[in-house]
Amino acid sequence: MTKEKMIIEIKEWLKEAAGYIRVSLTDELSVSQKSGRTDLVTNIDEETQTFLIKRINQYYPDDRILAEEKGFDTLDSLAGRVWIIDPIDGTMNFVMEQENFCIMIAVFEEGIGQLGFIYDVMKDELYWGGKGYGVFLNDQKLLQPKDTSLSEGLLGMNAYMYGKNIYSAGEIGHASMGIRVSGCAGVELIAMLKGNHIGYISNLSPWDYAAGLVLLDEFGFKYSNIEGKPLAFAKREYFLAATPTTYTEIQENFIQK
Ligand code: IPD
Ligand code: CA
Ligand code: CA
Ligand code: CA
Repeated sequence: MTKEKMIIEIKEWLKEAAGYIRVSLTDELSVSQKSGRTDLVTNIDEETQTFLIKRINQYYPDDRILAEEKGFDTLDSLAGRVWIIDPIDGTMNFVMEQENFCIMIAVFEEGIGQLGFIYDVMKDELYWGGKGYGVFLNDQKLLQPKDTSLSEGLLGMNAYMYGKNIYSAGEIGHASMGIRVSGCAGVELIAMLKGNHIGYISNLSPWDYAAGLVLLDEFGFKYSNIEGKPLAFAKREYFLAATPTTYTEIQENFIQK
């Protein structure tokens, strides 16, 4: 089985899921709280995940799956081939704005990212790529962004971390050209891939960053947990991704000092 075949299949699944999500926006959503009033899940998050898992089980029955909803959110290891799925990233935006949300899929083999897909559903923009492919926006290959320093660019930021200056996020933001808060990890990672933002600081789960990491790798971005250790792909962690120069500046001047 070739990666090319897998790419074609995943793109078809994403288009089908996105079509369903767009149509569903005219229906009444069923919205529930998870850990609190700002942590939501809808019937569409769950149905999208169920659809994607059904396809994976049908085409790749031996593979394992890590996904945000419905009890798929833990996996003992990344051994073998693992699919990491966020059926709707930016659920709050989905509910409140009906835009600025993504479907994200990553394929990892023995812990190494092979393919990543971040699909901005309402813009119909699919950012995808992986080892040996580079990064594409739909059918157009993207150019690697410049290695910009902290004082020269915009940073995607988690609002809570910025406001409370967690890990000096407020000070880091002030040292940049400015911060931006989208409420969607996928949208922030896309902004880095396009060269619009030089980095992203947040508090994320594996399905929030897995697809993005595969694509960031292709463009030489650096990433880790905020303390500089490898991301665990397990619990939620403080997350830093940036251009190599900005990453080093943030580590040396704010985190490790
Ligand atoms: C959330 C979004 C948000 C980030 C949160 C994530 P969800 O994902 O990506 O931007 O700040 O940490 O949990 O729950 O909407 O898929
Ligand atoms: Ca969620
Ligand atoms: Ca998410
Ligand atoms: Ca989600």
